[in-house]
Amino acid sequence: MDLVPLGRSGLTVSRIGLGLAALGRPGYINLGHGEDVSGRRTVSGLRAHAASVLDAAYGAGVRYFDAARSYGRAEAFLAAWLDERRIEPGAVTIGSKWGYAYTAGWRTDAPVHEVKDHTLDTLDRQHAESVDVLGDRLDLYQIHSATEPGGVLDRRDVLHRLARLRSAGTAIGITTSGPGQAGVIRRCIEIEVDGVPLFDAVQATWNLLERSAGAALGEAGDAGLGVIVKEALANGRLTARNPGLPVVLRNAEHSADALAIAAALAQPWSHVILSGAATVEQLRSNLRALRVPAAAAGDLEVEAETPAEYWERRSRLPWT
Ligand SMILES: NC(=O)c1ccc[n+]([C@@H]2O[C@H](COP(=O)([O-])OP(=O)(O)OC[C@H]3O[C@@H](n4cnc5c(N)ncnc54)[C@H](OP(=O)(O)O)[C@@H]3O)[C@@H](O)[C@H]2O)c1
Repeated sequence: MDLVPLGRSGLTVSRIGLGLAALGRPGYINLGHGEDVSGRRTVSGLRAHAASVLDAAYGAGVRYFDAARSYGRAEAFLAAWLDERRIEPGAVTIGSKWGYAYTAGWRTDAPVHEVKDHTLDTLDRQHAESVDVLGDRLDLYQIHSATEPGGVLDRRDVLHRLARLRSAGTAIGITTSGPGQAGVIRRCIEIEVDGVPLFDAVQATWNLLERSAGAALGEAGDAGLGVIVKEALANGRLTARNPGLPVVLRNAEHSADALAIAAALAQPWSHVILSGAATVEQLRSNLRALRVPAAAAGDLEVEAETPAEYWERRSRLPWT
């Protein structure tokens, strides 16, 4: 798989990365997560399951892995796998995130799965936790889901601490979600601390149903930021698992998920597209996007939703 620079961050990524949101905890919000991990919901069962997906990803050339403090034990599973497989620091690029705490207690029916808090205290606590687990393998630390109403980009104390982490050698990024993604991305391009741009990378949702961040992501790429695409499959809605989606599949040779990821790969500003595969089979199917010829990247015809519609639907996905 091709490796490319993640903007001017100094980091290198594979064109497809692996996100661990579905692999570090028993519950997630995609369409059929419960079915994917059924029978493996103990800590040791999920750890072995995550290792099998990580092995398949690494074997296929995936070199970017995306975790978060709130993905249950994702950081710990990743760190254990890197140690067991003796993967040298520098052979892969590791991103993680702070700003949400995992509160589900290893249950799928918890009333609250994650709690958001973007204060300096949480940054300091979660950064110490991430470093405790990942050590100097932590290459990119991202604000988890920065939004305008959340106000994290106005907190000078947080921005100054992030600048200090950056000076110490960790690249700094944001992830964003919701109908206001484009505005958040544009603000990030402009933010400086002591005259130095703060952010090295942005991670945002772009898929055939929700393309509204595309222009802003192009501007971020032009400004030298790395661009990471998440939710390229709209949380499973752009896969064969969703029979209700009105799509025209003009190319029977490739699956819907491969074509949807190929469409994200074809965006000139995208550096790495995250696969959120919950199983080895899904990963293999997602990776087939690399074999879709450029001319066929538009062969999944999907009518885009308005951002308001899309994010309202996203907010209704259940945890399973
Ligand atoms: N705010 C943030 O920072 C944020 C938010 C979301 C995600 N992320 C990152 O982005 C990564 C990807 O996000 P995502 O997992 O939500 O997005 P996604 O790629 O849009 O959806 C992945 C899901 O699609 C389904 N799927 C994939 N391939 C399939 C196939 N061949 N057949 C049937 N179903 C298939 C699986 O869900 P089922 O459970 O239905 O099988 C899988 O978990 C995450 O792991 C995380 O690293 C970050």
